[in-house]
Amino acid sequence: MSGSTGNAMLLAKGTTADVYAWGEGRVLKLFTERTPWHANEVAATRAAHKARLPVPEVMDGLIEVGQREGIVFERVDGPIMTEYLQDHPDQVEDCARQAAELQARIHATEASELPPLIEILHWSIAQADPLEDATRRAVLDLLGGLPGGESLCHNDFHPSNIIVSGRGLVVIDWAIGTRGNPLADHARTWVVSRMWLDGLERGASEQERLLGHIPAAIWRAAILQLGSAAALADCSRGSQPDLGSEHYVHGPAGLFCPGSACRCGTPMAE
Ligand SMILES: Nc1ncnc2c1ncn2[C@@H]1O[C@H](COP(=O)(O)OP(=O)(O)OP(=O)(O)O)[C@@H](O)[C@H]1O
Ligand SMILES: [Mg+2]
Repeated sequence: MSGSTGNAMLLAKGTTADVYAWGEGRVLKLFTERTPWHANEVAATRAAHKARLPVPEVMDGLIEVGQREGIVFERVDGPIMTEYLQDHPDQVEDCARQAAELQARIHATEASELPPLIEILHWSIAQADPLEDATRRAVLDLLGGLPGGESLCHNDFHPSNIIVSGRGLVVIDWAIGTRGNPLADHARTWVVSRMWLDGLERGASEQERLLGHIPAAIWRAAILQLGSAAALADCSRGSQPDLGSEHYVHGPAGLFCPGSACRCGTPMAE
């Protein structure tokens, strides 16, 4: 299909795209701007689908609709997790556990056909206008010393990109999906949690506070699953891993900080 969206029903507006009902069982994600990430979203979603992960099938992409680029996806019925939890606040821990299990399944998949995360980050940091040169060099130096990896990484894994459907959780929005190190993907989930909570600290309602704890709960469940990574960090400090310790419900800085006093300040789920 091409031309215009005509009478197609607008289902949702994201930050990068409008999403329309597009024929039987399909949606059109129609982007507002042209960027290289759209082709990457097709490739990463297809890689995840090929690995039988719960993602919408790419039916057609990229296509042109009225001067704009779009992707036609299988339609997934159900609320996104943040909306679902507003109606089912007692399900926070269960959703967090399921999301963490899903993130672990994603990481168990190899994604050799996707671009390496470190290269993408290198490119993004090199382009980032607001950075002073000294900061840019320091960050790129740090980046150069980090381990890569071959795991499929979503890199924007948080409750707004998860649909709670009749067939379980389904992950959407693979625009910056790459191959890479799972810890980087978990770290990103953690950073989103922090940003979310920092925003909420400025005058949030009780309900918003509850929602703010969801990413933190996902992170905590994920860390409990990352026994091997945590054990590795403990070994590097010369001590035995203790997965029951409070240390393991803290963020990536906590995982790698020396000594027992963790100062990473990761928000905790209540
Ligand atoms: N395959 C799908 N089936 C049903 N609804 C979908 C599907 N893909 C996206 N949506 C709806 O469209 C919304 C926006 O989608 P998506 O997150 O992919 O876009 P985005 O512009 O990258 O959004 P944002 O940047 O705000 O996360 C989703 O929250 C969801 O409500
Ligand atoms: Mg999204």
